[in-house]
Amino acid sequence: MAVHFSILLLLSGVTGICSITTVRKVSVKTGKSISIPCLYSSENTDKVKYLCEGYSWHSCTFVAQTNQPQNSDKFSITDDKTQRIFTVTISKLDKSNNNFWCVSGVQGSYIREYFYLSVTKGESSLYTEEQNYVGYIGENITIKCFSKVTGVKKWCRLGGPCVTDSIRDGAIHGTTVTINTSVPGGFNVTMSKLRSESEGWYYCEAGDFQMPVYIRVQNRPETTSSTLEKQEKRFSFDLKTLLIPPGLLILIVTMTISIWLILKRRRGKAEASATTEAVSAAEDVTYINWTGNRQ
Ligand SMILES: *[C@@H]1O[C@H](CO)[C@@H](O)[C@H](O)[C@H]1NC(C)=O
Repeated sequence: MAVHFSILLLLSGVTGICSITTVRKVSVKTGKSISIPCLYSSENTDKVKYLCEGYSWHSCTFVAQTNQPQNSDKFSITDDKTQRIFTVTISKLDKSNNNFWCVSGVQGSYIREYFYLSVTKGESSLYTEEQNYVGYIGENITIKCFSKVTGVKKWCRLGGPCVTDSIRDGAIHGTTVTINTSVPGGFNVTMSKLRSESEGWYYCEAGDFQMPVYIRVQNRPETTSSTLEKQEKRFSFDLKTLLIPPGLLILIVTMTISIWLILKRRRGKAEASATTEAVSAAEDVTYINWTGNRQ
């Protein structure tokens, strides 16, 4: 047991498992909010996670932590222990919200990683329309990363591999990634044939800016069959409205027959008067008698 433990310790020391991985520099607009994912090594799963604000680690202030109720509408923190990622969200960004640390552990043995927020009034250097996307298993998803920054464009899994625009076609965890830089205003990233393992935090990279994006992967809701059901329902509803109650049917038939009879009678009368008019020119008496008989 003790041997196993020391081997584990040795391994973690050698491979640098005991760490936090996050983005380095993110560009955001004043007043907006941003979520930053911090990936941690497994031995930190049950430790407290913090967000610390300040340029220097020694003088930064803990502004959110997972073991304390969060009643700030400026900072929040959530911990996904399955993915080993805690996410810090900073809202209503202003120019002074620049320097932060993702932190885990207890006093005396903290592990930490720094990130920088470039908060500007104008357009961000690198941004996406959203930070949360939903993709479906077996399908493709395209994310547009808006950027005018020159330099290498990348798409990376947080803590995982990256695909660069010079390769154009690469793969991340069995999913093909294509970067298209011939798109006005930025570049498109397409992930093909999503799998459930594809779910997680990624980021676009342009120059030294990064933009984190969460991709949720799920089964496509059965829209085709449910719309079919709806159509069926609507069809039966139409049929029902088409079905005329028997009473009404009898009434309609009676009225139709009556109208038909009246019309027939009138036409008969009209025809009769037309012929009698012609005749009446010659013989007045016949006309009077004839119509008299008819009525
Ligand atoms: C890249 O995007 C442009 C603009 O949307 C499109 O015309 C072109 O076909 C795309 N290239 C590839 C290889 O998909």
